[in-house]
Amino acid sequence: MNAIRLTEHSKSLLNLHGASRWIEAHNGLSAHIGSTCRVTDADGSAKCFDAVWVSSLTTSAASLLPDAELHLLDQRLELALQICEASAKSVVLDGDTGGEILAFQYLVRRLERIGAAGVCIEDKRLPKRNSFSGDGHHHLEDPEQFAAKVRAGVAARKPFGPRIIARLESLIAGETIERALYRARLYADAGADAVLIHSIRDSGELFNFIEAARHPETGRLHELPIICVPTAYPQMRDSELFAAGFNVVIYANHLLRASIAAMRDTASRLLADEGPAGCDGDLVAMRDLLALIGGGSAAAPTDDSQPADASESRDLETILAARSQV
Ligand code: SPV
Ligand code: MG
Repeated sequence: MNAIRLTEHSKSLLNLHGASRWIEAHNGLSAHIGSTCRVTDADGSAKCFDAVWVSSLTTSAASLLPDAELHLLDQRLELALQICEASAKSVVLDGDTGGEILAFQYLVRRLERIGAAGVCIEDKRLPKRNSFSGDGHHHLEDPEQFAAKVRAGVAARKPFGPRIIARLESLIAGETIERALYRARLYADAGADAVLIHSIRDSGELFNFIEAARHPETGRLHELPIICVPTAYPQMRDSELFAAGFNVVIYANHLLRASIAAMRDTASRLLADEGPAGCDGDLVAMRDLLALIGGGSAAAPTDDSQPADASESRDLETILAARSQV
């Protein structure tokens, strides 16, 4: 892999405190779209995503694979590099279980070299299954062993290396909130920069967790950023989650799910209508697509025989600069 040294770059800095929204990416295109999206509220204030989450679920799904740690480590790093280059914001890799301690240390060091801002590992046993997977076989790692893995990752990292997020799967595997808190305190004491608490039920149990975690008696955990993934409780606004004390909200699969719906619809309409007449007007125009990816302007849509004007093609340096433009 062609590793690039980007660690001094502002993209490699991750603000875990405060209130941040992260958006899922599964390739360079989705990273670009998510990381450059900006909306303006009625009161004139702007909102954007603060970081890109390289989801194991959506990167696996994009290859039509189950989310079960089937991608090899170097394939994940290759994808992380593609996403780092295409993203306008910090990039955090979903590192699944992190593998064995040596593999996790290797991952941390390689992510540092490509300029990733963070990595998240979860306390399931390898090979894990996606938390939404209904087969009921979510086996948790021994808490002390997982804490040792977190500690080893922190030790392997250089001062400006990726932030390490410890993800708690207690509520997924049927453990109590007390047990999740016990684990969270261990991982905090091992040096984790943040904890992620996941639930596939509702936000109620998460609110109980965060209330308990914020007690001063929890030691280092008391001050640590806490992250949630509101897939299972979509009615909850992120502003309510921030008000409850969460620091980061990850929209972990929404761009991929949107694209599946759009692809299914377009594929059906092409067949049903015997061509694009019915759906073409709803698609992104070729001109927009070329503007997005660079490398040349679109020929006039009514004159497909004419190639794009070569003089307008962007040269290699311009394309590379745009990819890392942040
Ligand atoms: C992912 O996005 O890959 C996650 C979150 O790990 S979840 O799919 O909800 O487990
Ligand atoms: Mg995952």
